[in-house]
Amino acid sequence: MVTRRAYITHMGSYLPNRILTNADLEKIVDTSDEWIVSRTGMRERRIAHEGEFTSDMGYQAAKKCLENAQIDPNEVDLIIVATITPDYLFPSTACMIQELLGASRAAAFDIQAACSGFLYALGTAKSFIESGIYNKILVIGSEKLSSIVDYEDRSTCVLFGDGAAACLVQEGGSGLRIDAFELGADGHQNHLLILPGGGCRKPTSLETLKNRDHFLKMDGRGIFKHAVRRMEQSMVETIEKANLTCEEIDWLVPHQANIRIIDSLTKRCGIDDSKVIKTVEKYGNTSASSIGIGLDEMIEKNLIKEGDNLLLLAFGAGLTWGSMVLKMVGAK
Ligand code: UT7
Repeated sequence: MVTRRAYITHMGSYLPNRILTNADLEKIVDTSDEWIVSRTGMRERRIAHEGEFTSDMGYQAAKKCLENAQIDPNEVDLIIVATITPDYLFPSTACMIQELLGASRAAAFDIQAACSGFLYALGTAKSFIESGIYNKILVIGSEKLSSIVDYEDRSTCVLFGDGAAACLVQEGGSGLRIDAFELGADGHQNHLLILPGGGCRKPTSLETLKNRDHFLKMDGRGIFKHAVRRMEQSMVETIEKANLTCEEIDWLVPHQANIRIIDSLTKRCGIDDSKVIKTVEKYGNTSASSIGIGLDEMIEKNLIKEGDNLLLLAFGAGLTWGSMVLKMVGAK
């Protein structure tokens, strides 16, 4: 039997050109550049334009990805979109991007695993490819977090930004081979990061509007504690699954929620700081898009060499978490 292997062969990303700086935020809420930089590492984040939605940003990233791959949208078998800020509760944002791309052959669905969404989607794509069901899958992370951020709540509004990333996952070829992954969840802690309103439990009403339940709520300290612990455990498990040791990891590509979380994982992994991808300063936390944006920047800068092992790490609402090991095979 021939073993099928899933590879990320091409990527693309999209960031709106509208920039929200810490100085801008100082004018909106009681905060300071000093607090934001020292507590989070963030200086700027991108904000989508009026009339620019999650599907538009996802489409832009996917279009670049397919152009890089020189693949006609009609060759795509499946589109998976990871997002917590879909254009609508339904239909899925994946269906909207399918239409924008003209990828009429593709099946399409969304995955909702918050900031771990990109890894949940990649793991799903790998499984579809390696089981022989599909050959070409577009995985997209796209978020318009500015649409669910409360710009009157200083504890959250400084943290989030908008943007999208897409990758083409194919059977065989060359690129980043998906070698191992691990996904996890802890529903007991669902209250720590939540968008309370707009679902069937609290449909939109005057009451939910008054309570600002249409904006995300986060217990930052609670989340922080779980984030470090869960990602550390997940990292160990996945490195072992890939038959590697920490020393053999060449690049760490973590979710970009907080520079202090990233630094703690860097220490734990024992990897040199120069081998850790950090975009948090420029883009803040872009949830399901952050890992894809980081990966695309690495590819653009031609940082990844033949045989390099990459460790991707994510954590988010749910709680959810995940880790994945990729190996560069057949680099040009
Ligand atoms: O991507 C999904 C996963 N998300 C995460 O992983 C986020 C994890 N959490 C964090 O990154 C951090 O907990 C935060 C950055 C959200 C907060 O940092 P912290 O060091 O945990 O601060 P804190 O929430 O404990 O607040 C410390 C103080 C409080 O004041 P008091 O009570 O000590 O007087 C807050 O009111 O900082 C205050 N504060 C602020 N001050 C200025 C909170 N937000 C701000 C702000 N500017 N923007």
